[in-house]
Amino acid sequence: MDDRHDLELLIQSQVPLISIETREERRALELLGRIQTSLGLPLFTWSITEGMQRVMGQFSFENGLEDPGRFLEHIKDSSEGGIFALLDFHPYLAEPRHVRLLKDIALQQHRARRVVVLISHAITVPDELHAFHADFHLALPSRKEREKIVREEARRWKKENAGRKVKANNAALDGLIDNLGGLTTAEVRRLARKAICDDGAILDNDIPRIVEAKYRLLNRDSLLHYEFATERFADVAGFSRLKAWLAQRAEVFRSGDDVLDVPRGILLLGVQGCGKSLAARAVAGSWQVPLLQLDFGSLYNKFHGETERNLREVLKTAEAMAPCVLWIDEIEKGIAAADSDGGTSRRLQATLLTWMAERHQAVFMVATANDISRLPPELVRKGRFDEIFFVDLPDADTRRAIFDIHLRRREQPVALFDLDALAAATADFSGSEIEQLVVAALYSARGRGGRLDQALLLKEAAATRPLAVTMAEPIARLRQWAEGRTVPAN
Ligand SMILES: Nc1ncnc2c1ncn2[C@@H]1O[C@H](COP(=O)(O)OP(=O)(O)OP(=O)(O)O)[C@@H](O)[C@H]1O
Ligand SMILES: [Mg+2]
Repeated sequence: MDDRHDLELLIQSQVPLISIETREERRALELLGRIQTSLGLPLFTWSITEGMQRVMGQFSFENGLEDPGRFLEHIKDSSEGGIFALLDFHPYLAEPRHVRLLKDIALQQHRARRVVVLISHAITVPDELHAFHADFHLALPSRKEREKIVREEARRWKKENAGRKVKANNAALDGLIDNLGGLTTAEVRRLARKAICDDGAILDNDIPRIVEAKYRLLNRDSLLHYEFATERFADVAGFSRLKAWLAQRAEVFRSGDDVLDVPRGILLLGVQGCGKSLAARAVAGSWQVPLLQLDFGSLYNKFHGETERNLREVLKTAEAMAPCVLWIDEIEKGIAAADSDGGTSRRLQATLLTWMAERHQAVFMVATANDISRLPPELVRKGRFDEIFFVDLPDADTRRAIFDIHLRRREQPVALFDLDALAAATADFSGSEIEQLVVAALYSARGRGGRLDQALLLKEAAATRPLAVTMAEPIARLRQWAEGRTVPAN
């Protein structure tokens, strides 16, 4: 990574306005400090608290320019050249006068060599300034550099602990270095230290902890919900085709491949309560990668009016967390086909579709849906998802397995029940209805002060009117739509 060289080139190429989106302000300033020396241009910083300062080894203050407008006027009027680093100026870009002043400065390049560098964690450059502007991205440390940092931290620990060596196994060390990808140098160091410091070891059980800590670093606004290995397919009945499909792709997803495309994502479409959400969780669990759940609701609400930007942030976070599963539950609710909201959901849709088409990181998207009428056709067009799986009501074998799973989970002696009879008594039941029936029967047993038995389960089954009966029509429509467009998940 040669940030210095690249940024210097950019400044020399006479771009008047540069933005650096980063959480590492200090690193960006250090870089500019070194560039000022080699280019012989003075460096000034501005912040709302300190006003303008000249950076020369030690600061010399120029008071009175805290006001952003006055500061920009000062640059505009002065005939002195320089690099002006504006720290956290982003809120002031909302002011039309400031935008115009920046444009004036950009247009007067011939008067003096001036470069304005915006440094903030997030910057939206107004349209008026696009023609004068370039983005600069501070490079993130490569795998080799991350390895170096981890080794440095291990040496430091040894020194501080009377020469005791850090215990590590190679697999865990590799895992740690892989999982520190997508972070800045300072963050890599912080997490490497965290992994080592508590017990002087880098072992397999450090990985989930580090992945979670990384997620917390990246996702400060919590627009994503994080889970690590919460479900396994062992606890999901049915889904045989989906399980086989995933098993075939696990290795390529984790390690990449020269020939095969890395799997990108699936859509699970189907009847309510039949385990779509459960299966989505299990994908991450079975691949042993983090599950990031995107809740469209919070995307809309959290920072009103910045919805698309939020989505882009979320997608960036997911890429930094790769390999991971990005789960969008009930996707039709987030990007409904109708444009009743002034085009916001349509733009969200476009952002998501573009990302799905372009992304290269190992982010496996699992979307679930149960209402096809609200699904935008663009989303289900061939090639968007690797596959669309249809999740139907469980067949008898699957119902048997669902009873088995849920009875076991509640510590019931499965051998004492006739699972075939239970499966036969619950035709048209969803997995969730079977689970609820087991729970209800357990309550009845408790109420009577006795044990759960077959009769109680059958009684509950008889008393349940499954949703599939009342919803027969929409389910038939769904099946009809799924025919030919989807593959059965089971
Ligand atoms: N195939 C299954 N195997 C085991 N448990 C299941 C299965 N299907 C459903 N269940 C149980 O029912 C619960 C609800 O299922 P889940 O929320 O995954 O359904 P869903 O398809 O996402 O429904 P919805 O469309 O309402 O979101 C699960 O948490 C699980 O306990
Ligand atoms: Mg669900």
